[in-house]
Amino acid sequence: MSTTLITGGGGFIGVRLARVLSGAGERVVLFDRRFDSAALAGLAAGVEAIEGDVTSFEQVHRAIAGSRAGGIVHLAAILSSQCEDDPLLAFQINVSGTFHVLEAARQAGVGKVVVTSSSAIFEADQPSGPLDETAPLAPLGVYAMTKMVGEEWCAFYHRRFGIDTRVARPGAVVGPGRVASGAASSWTTALIEEPLRGRPYVCPVAENDSSPLVYHSDLVDGLARLYLAEQVPARIYNLGACSATAGELARLVRERVPNARISFQPNPVAHFVVGRWRYVVQNNQRAARDLGYQPRYTTPAALVAACAEEIGTS
Ligand SMILES: NC(=O)c1ccc[n+]([C@@H]2O[C@H](COP(=O)([O-])OP(=O)(O)OC[C@H]3O[C@@H](n4cnc5c(N)ncnc54)[C@H](O)[C@@H]3O)[C@@H](O)[C@H]2O)c1
Repeated sequence: MSTTLITGGGGFIGVRLARVLSGAGERVVLFDRRFDSAALAGLAAGVEAIEGDVTSFEQVHRAIAGSRAGGIVHLAAILSSQCEDDPLLAFQINVSGTFHVLEAARQAGVGKVVVTSSSAIFEADQPSGPLDETAPLAPLGVYAMTKMVGEEWCAFYHRRFGIDTRVARPGAVVGPGRVASGAASSWTTALIEEPLRGRPYVCPVAENDSSPLVYHSDLVDGLARLYLAEQVPARIYNLGACSATAGELARLVRERVPNARISFQPNPVAHFVVGRWRYVVQNNQRAARDLGYQPRYTTPAALVAACAEEIGTS
């Protein structure tokens, strides 16, 4: 049995990935600065949780070396709006944190590190075709900058030290219960979930703002495939499903909840971040070809239906 250490393992994706990797026979160790006991309760008995901060190299190194991890999935990060609000913290957690994980992996002799970047690194303010992993990047937002720099450190540790670094670029995650308070994309779930639960929702972006999307279970499946694959022929993989505007999601929700109380009041930070990726559509062919990644929910309507089913209102 090999050991996988998941940083940010107490987060929305982390606990779900832990469940899948334990189910695949991995011994899983979670590393996070805080854990929610309810989230941990659903995990297999053998899953260990270590409290620590990725901004401390010593804490990261101790956890990685002490757990004798054979591989790492690095998810710990702060998300887009929080990064725009606090660029210093964004650098400390997202950039230094990623560097600490890679350097501790090198020192501890860990051969494989999967790192989550984001589809936010793509920017398209006018219509363009689906973007694959070779599309040029020039992000202006803080979050995307931190993710792009993290990708470069991954490429460096692969090139210089031969570590098998693998980067995932997920679309904005959709899934009931995704609080995502620090994400400019939190509307992608809340716009669906709140009206389905009978609550009003004030959307912080404009109706024609849009985002690449992926359902949480599809992303977790893609991450597990990326991590567990014996070998991968490329270093970076898009893991998305489709894109939708806020207006389109609202229309789909109103088909189920005709009197849904949805209003649009763009807030400057969320609108700035999301406006930059208004026309981004991810091309996921590389992950399909190399990892067998086939997301189950590939249209905005399917994402809304999946949320309704999970919440129990379908
Ligand atoms: N949620 C999305 O829409 C989305 C989209 C693209 C990429 N991603 C990336 O996927 C990863 C996981 O996202 P998520 O949706 O699970 O977010 P999340 O906020 O639920 O989880 C992130 C976890 O990182 C932890 N963390 C933050 N700072 C830390 C620190 N200094 N030390 C240790 N732990 C720390 C948090 O406590 C949290 O549990 C992140 O890297 C994120 O950037 C997320």
